[in-house]
Amino acid sequence: MRLIFLGPPGAGKGTQAQILQERFGAKQISTGDILRENRNKGTDLGMLAKSYMDKGALVPDEVIIKMIEAELEKLHGGFIMDGFPRTTAQAEAFDASLRAANTPLDAVVLFNADRETLFTRLTARWTNPRTGRSYNSVTNPPRVAGIDDEDGGPLVQREDDKPETVTKRLDVYERQTAPLIDYYRKSGKLLEINALAAVEDVTRELVSKVEAAEKAAS
Ligand code: AP5
Repeated sequence: MRLIFLGPPGAGKGTQAQILQERFGAKQISTGDILRENRNKGTDLGMLAKSYMDKGALVPDEVIIKMIEAELEKLHGGFIMDGFPRTTAQAEAFDASLRAANTPLDAVVLFNADRETLFTRLTARWTNPRTGRSYNSVTNPPRVAGIDDEDGGPLVQREDDKPETVTKRLDVYERQTAPLIDYYRKSGKLLEINALAAVEDVTRELVSKVEAAEKAAS
């Protein structure tokens, strides 16, 4: 399984990538999680990324492309790209890497959701910084507020989930990432799903469309 999850902030890409990773073993590669991990460790990459992330802006393409190339070198088997590519330059560089490795994509899944829902989801999100597992105090709360169901450790709210930064991130998506919808539609690999449904219904639609695409390709 080689997939890209494309969609606006808060559409549920990370939530579904974790579910599919557990179910099918394809590795979730979240550029946001890798950048946050670097920021928490205080690496040069993390410090550079922080200045962009805190503003809700994208980290420069050359930094992201280099980071993904390093991830691909470690990879054995399938992947789910969660939050990458986000610009045409990133998509073109990724296409070139996939072509060189003779590992074509199975599908690009577009998560459709309206701006109002995305805003509400993001400003109510709580995350486990150790595993990346995501909750929502309104739609998907943990059993005990502020505590992860699985490891019992504290949940945190992301810096960039403040209302003013969320608005900027949604604008950046429309301007810089939404053009990729047409880019991948032209390749014939785009699958669209309704990201407004309940988590388990989104998973059902996602799995059935990806399986149908794999069957049609084989
Ligand atoms: P990143 O971490 O990738 O953030 P994002 O794309 O903005 O996506 P999110 O993680 O906010 O949303 P999601 O779609 O994964 O939703 P989730 O499943 O968590 O990027 C952060 C920053 O890093 C960027 O702004 C940029 O600066 C930088 N960056 C990263 N990649 C980059 C790149 N390629 N190039 C340049 N810069 C880059 O769900 C959200 C909430 O909704 C949760 O609370 C969840 O529980 C809830 N939820 C999920 N699904 C449902 C559902 N079906 N129903 C109800 N609630 C749901």
